[in-house]
Amino acid sequence: MTAPVPISLEVNGERVDADVLPRLNLADFLREHLKLTGTHVGCEHGVCGACTVRVNGKIVRSCLILAVQAQNGTVETIEGLSDSGEIADLQAAFRDRNALQCGFCTPGMLMAAQDLLKQSPMPDREQIRQHLSGNYCRCTGYQAIVDAVENTARARAGHGR
Ligand code: FES
Ligand code: FES
Repeated sequence: MTAPVPISLEVNGERVDADVLPRLNLADFLREHLKLTGTHVGCEHGVCGACTVRVNGKIVRSCLILAVQAQNGTVETIEGLSDSGEIADLQAAFRDRNALQCGFCTPGMLMAAQDLLKQSPMPDREQIRQHLSGNYCRCTGYQAIVDAVENTARARAGHGR
């Protein structure tokens, strides 16, 4: 049997040292070792987007990378973005617009939406749909999600909601 290997990384601003099996993916490491269960796991093969987190500033599917690949890196999860207030307005827009129902897709949607708004502060609806096209939602039909992201972009640009 393969032995655990030591890793060091920063998760939501805090240094983490752990011993992990080389095959452990980042999603399971976050959820099971660190109890950061806001990162959801749906398909486990890179399709649904529920497991989206930031690694070194870029969004990735945490089911598709190994925990050991985050060695010396910086990981941000939905808990980190939420606690820092970075996405407070986006979360409020999702609530206001009923852009979540069961909430399973929501952490990944918020991560992807914030990634878009950082790159492109005033996206049109097509750009929003395109950027979120790798995040599946079984409940909302997407319209309300696109509305919430569009409203957040407008509000951040000072155009009101
Ligand atoms: S659980 Fe990672 S993309 Fe679906
Ligand atoms: S709110 Fe249920 S999957 Fe999106």
